[in-house]
Amino acid sequence: MAKVAIVGATGKVGQYAALSISRIPYVNEVQLYGRPGSEGILEGIARDLIDSFAATGTDSSVSWSCSIEDLKGSDVIIFTAGVPRKAHQTRNDLALENARIVKDFAEKIATIAPDSLLLMITNPVDIMTHVALKYSGKKSNEVFGIGTHLDSMRLKSAIASFFKVHVSEVHTRIIGEHGESMVPLWSATTIGGIQISNLPSFARVPIDEIMTQVKCSGQRIIASKGATVWGPGEAIGTLIRTILGNEDRILTVSAYIKAEVHNIGDVCIGVPVRINRSGVYPVPIRIEPLEVRNFQMSVEKIRRITKEVFN
Ligand code: LAC
Repeated sequence: MAKVAIVGATGKVGQYAALSISRIPYVNEVQLYGRPGSEGILEGIARDLIDSFAATGTDSSVSWSCSIEDLKGSDVIIFTAGVPRKAHQTRNDLALENARIVKDFAEKIATIAPDSLLLMITNPVDIMTHVALKYSGKKSNEVFGIGTHLDSMRLKSAIASFFKVHVSEVHTRIIGEHGESMVPLWSATTIGGIQISNLPSFARVPIDEIMTQVKCSGQRIIASKGATVWGPGEAIGTLIRTILGNEDRILTVSAYIKAEVHNIGDVCIGVPVRINRSGVYPVPIRIEPLEVRNFQMSVEKIRRITKEVFN
């Protein structure tokens, strides 16, 4: 049984994440954490969440707090706090402001919750994951970000829809930045276990169109309804279930890599990882030369911005 805390629980993603993780059978305590002064709204969110439990048969306990000491004993802390992105902004426009918030939190959590895993959602998530890793003093397997998991979900849906197959038949990955320079791995994409390039209809796949759709998805949703909520919220649910169930799934998240992909490293970026109760472990992979070049460019971009943030 586990305690999962959500930092930034008054935000839209934080609230949906609370609902999604409360339904995971391994979770017996959901803690909603918000900045001082937000006790009233946290209480309302907690009560609304508890009201849903009778319908789903959930029996987790729900607590709320504005005192960071109460995060003590969390098995996983989900960090969603920060300045949200507006439709005209890139995720990287938020880097400096959100890095200050993450640094302050990570330094405190180092002593309050030294044993918890830390899942970063705040954008730009690759850079925020590195800031959290550096200032929390945690091990690199204990701090990770949602990264390209959500982008991989979006690509999976687009491929399933093009081939008219159930999404569970599609395996695919996007690595690199959770942003403009993300890299789809067609070499690691299968449908019903068959390498996608071995399917005759592969030639008709509108790759550029699909990738534009995947890359712009977040921005389009923000422009239309103000925030992406259910996509990231369900992605968080999958990651928490995989960790607490010790499932050893291979998912694509933002993790610190030394040199797991073609000797490119010292950065937090989207890569395939083995994920279980003790955290995330990047899986060394071989990919196509074009994918390597694009991944390299993505890494260089993230390294440059990370360096600017650390200076
Ligand atoms: C998105 C946000 C989470 O892509 O960056 O939906």
